[in-house]
Amino acid sequence: MTHVRLAPSILSADFACLGAQVEAALVAGAEFVHVDVMDGHFVPNITIGPLVVKAVQPIAARFGATVDVHLMIAQPERYLADFAQAGADILTIHVETCPHLHRTIQAIRELGVRPGVTLNPATPLVMLEEVLPDVDLVLVMSVNPGFGGQSYIPASTARIRRLRTMLDAIGSTADLEVDGGIKPGNAAEIAAAGATVLVAGSAVFGGPNSIAENLAAFHAALQA
Ligand code: DX5
Ligand code: ZN
Repeated sequence: MTHVRLAPSILSADFACLGAQVEAALVAGAEFVHVDVMDGHFVPNITIGPLVVKAVQPIAARFGATVDVHLMIAQPERYLADFAQAGADILTIHVETCPHLHRTIQAIRELGVRPGVTLNPATPLVMLEEVLPDVDLVLVMSVNPGFGGQSYIPASTARIRRLRTMLDAIGSTADLEVDGGIKPGNAAEIAAAGATVLVAGSAVFGGPNSIAENLAAFHAALQA
């Protein structure tokens, strides 16, 4: 099976000690830092912006980890340069927020950042078809965006399989990232469907166990 990388979502971290929490996740083997940016318009929640990317970027860089920014905001093109400046390695935009998707993807690449695209659970995969050759990551939302701690939408697994087939058909090397409700109990199924990066927030930073124990549970599930 392809080496599946873990992308802890800091949305579920303790923001009173964010740096230490990010470092603990990277020490425990996470290879991405997933930053959920929400504006209270595209999604009901308001979270974090470029300042937090700027704060965590040096920690990620020390581990060679990828700063993976998920933009759940209206008109994301307004903020691409700010996030690039703050140190984003990947900027992922929602197809639902980009009427000029091809141009926005180009704008991300012109900033020297890797472009990703994502779509809400009800948005047909065909909406991505024309831009699949142009992106470095495709993110399948397995919950409705806006909050951590939600349950995985079971229909996502078939969607991941279909997207894997679409990517393979064009010889794409883009990462297939899945985001929302991912736990050690469903990680292997999602990886087997074709995911290469798994986002997990509450299953990494939440619950009674340590971040290291939570990540070890993912590694064990993926090795089984
Ligand atoms: C939801 C975010 C997800 C979320 C994942 O809108 O995009 O990244 O933080 O959190 P869990 O893993 O708890 O579902
Ligand atoms: Zn996310």
